[in-house]
Formats: sequence, C-alpha cells, structure tokens
Amino acid sequence: MRPGREADLSGLIELMRDEVTAGRQDIVPSESLLQRVLARFDWETKSRVIEESGRIAGSALVMSRPSPDGVIATVYAAGHGDRYRDMARWGVQFARAAGATIVQTTVAKGRGDGLAETGMTVVRPWWRMDRSLSDGLPETTTVPGYRLLDGTSVPPGRWSEMFNRTFVDHWRFKPRAEGEILAGKLPELSLMAVTSAGGSPAAMTLAELETYPGDSRPQPVGLVSSVGTVPEHRRRGLAGWLVAESLHRLRRAGARHASLYVDGLSPMRAYDVYGKLGFAVMFEAEVWEASFL
Ligand SMILES: CC(C)(COP(=O)(O)OP(=O)(O)OC[C@H]1O[C@@H](n2cnc3c(N)ncnc32)[C@H](O)[C@@H]1OP(=O)(O)O)[C@@H](O)C(=O)NCCC(=O)NCCS
Repeated sequence: MRPGREADLSGLIELMRDEVTAGRQDIVPSESLLQRVLARFDWETKSRVIEESGRIAGSALVMSRPSPDGVIATVYAAGHGDRYRDMARWGVQFARAAGATIVQTTVAKGRGDGLAETGMTVVRPWWRMDRSLSDGLPETTTVPGYRLLDGTSVPPGRWSEMFNRTFVDHWRFKPRAEGEILAGKLPELSLMAVTSAGGSPAAMTLAELETYPGDSRPQPVGLVSSVGTVPEHRRRGLAGWLVAESLHRLRRAGARHASLYVDGLSPMRAYDVYGKLGFAVMFEAEVWEASFL
C-alpha cells in the first residue's frame, strides 16, 4: 500500500468503473469533475492505493469537513475482492486518527460486504431519483408573493448564506463556502426565489450538466442539488417551482435526463416533492457510519 498521487487518476477511474460493474456504486465521475474536486487534495496524507501488476487494485481517499456534529470524514473506497474492505478499513482508521468524530461511506443497498468489520454500521438510506427530460416536463407554477432570480443577478455571498440557513436542519449538515457551492455551475442554472416585497431569500435550487462515461442514462445528465427552502417559507410550493424551472432550463442547456440525490429518511419528505415532479428512485444506496464521540 502506498500514498496515491494525482498521476493515479486514470487508474482510479478504471477502478471506479469496476465498482459500478460490481454493483457497489452507481456512477463513474468524469475525469474533469474529479480533477476539480481533487484540485487541492492532499494525496500523500489522505489517500492510499494498492498496486498490482502495474494496475491499481484498491484505493481509499478520505475527505473531511467540520460540522455541528464534529468533524465528518467521508471515505471513498474501491477495490477488487477483499481489498474493498481493507481500503475502507484504512480510511476509517486514518480518519479516526486525524480527529474525525464521524466517518461515513456510501455504498449500494446490501453491498457493503465487509464494512461491518471496519466498525461501521448502516445508518441511513440514500437514494438517487431520476426522470427523463424527453417527455412532458412538469409546468413551472409561480408561487404568488415571490419572484425568481438566478446566478446572473444574485449578489455574491447570498448563496452560502441561504445554503447554510436552509440546510442547518438537514441530517449531517456541513456548512459550505460560496465558492464551493457554486463551483463549476452555470449562473442560469443557479436559482433563488426571493419575496416580491422585500427581496428576502426564500428558496434555492442548483443544477449542472454532467457527463458520466459508460452510464445507461442518456447523456448529458442534469444534476439537481441543494434544493432548500428556509423554514418560514416552506410548504408553499417553492421547492416544487424551482425544481420544475431547473428541469426546463436543464433541457434548454442540452441535458437529456435529470438526477438528484435525496436522504431516504428526509423528515420533510423531500422525495415526495420530487416524486410529484416525475422523479422515481432508480438507485438505492446506504450510508454507513462509525462514530468516535
Ligand atoms: C424539502 C424542502 C426543500 C421542501 O421545500 P418546500 O418549499 O417546503 O417544498 P414545497 O412547498 O414545494 O412542497 C412541500 C410540501 O408542501 C406542499 N405544498 C405545496 N404548496 C402548498 C401550499 N400552497 N399549501 C400547503 N402545502 C403546499 C407540497 O404538496 C408538499 O407536500 P408533501 O410534503 O406532502 O409532498 C424543505 O423542507 C427544505 O428545505 N428542507 C431542508 C433541506 C432539505 O432537506 N432539502 C432537500 C435535499 S434533497
């Protein structure tokens, strides 16, 4: 086992493809997405790979961030056979030694073979919901008393303020900075509803175009994320409006399919909002966690 390095990226992508074939993961991220996410990643400290016959046969990358629940570390493990468990175990042990209070990994439902041996248990269902963009899209129903802005007119700093207010009651909430929330997103696909009267931010929804190599969905896929309404404006149709508007804008931008990820135990039943817009659960995963409080 050795630390990973940036030059391993194509070998890691190959391994991720094997994870999809093995049924543990649903997607292989594009190289450009990985390059963006891993731009300042500390490979030497936070990753390990196993090399066999010149190929990468196992890998673990650990990313962590502070949260109100303490430092939450996410382990991205991959590997052939038992190496998957071994790499996940390295990730858990490293994250714990580095001060994480919670260590997580996400894997397809029922496919976390060996993860129990790393000290993790299943804590949450996590779903990917999809819908086609080729058939009739839901109508965008404007909510009276609100108007729609997008990234071309929202002042800087507003997105992080909104995100952090809206998601504070979301499970395992982690505060995010403006740059991180907007990274790589087109301004016209970044939507915010504000009150017509005072212009107070009320709801947001972000979307982006992604291409997943070797995926069965028609490409590119419109990925909808950060769907949130601040508590005092909920249950008025704002999330439904913004997600429906995103679908229209994604289709105009060239997307052929739409996907989003949702907490399967969402206390606000976010999945029902998406279900009403034609989304259906297409991939069921589980979040595994070890807690070191
Ligand atoms: C989940 C969330 C985004 C929903 O936002 P919202 O703006 O309240 O959503 P909507 O108003 O469009 O729909 C919510 C419910 O209100 C209902 N509703 C819509 N218009 C309504 C109206 N005028 N009067 C009463 N109810 C209404 C909807 O039918 C829906 O009902 P359901 O829960 O039975 O399906 C919001 O609760 C939230 O931000 N939660 C925290 C963050 C989060 O979990 N985000 C999801 C990440 S995947």
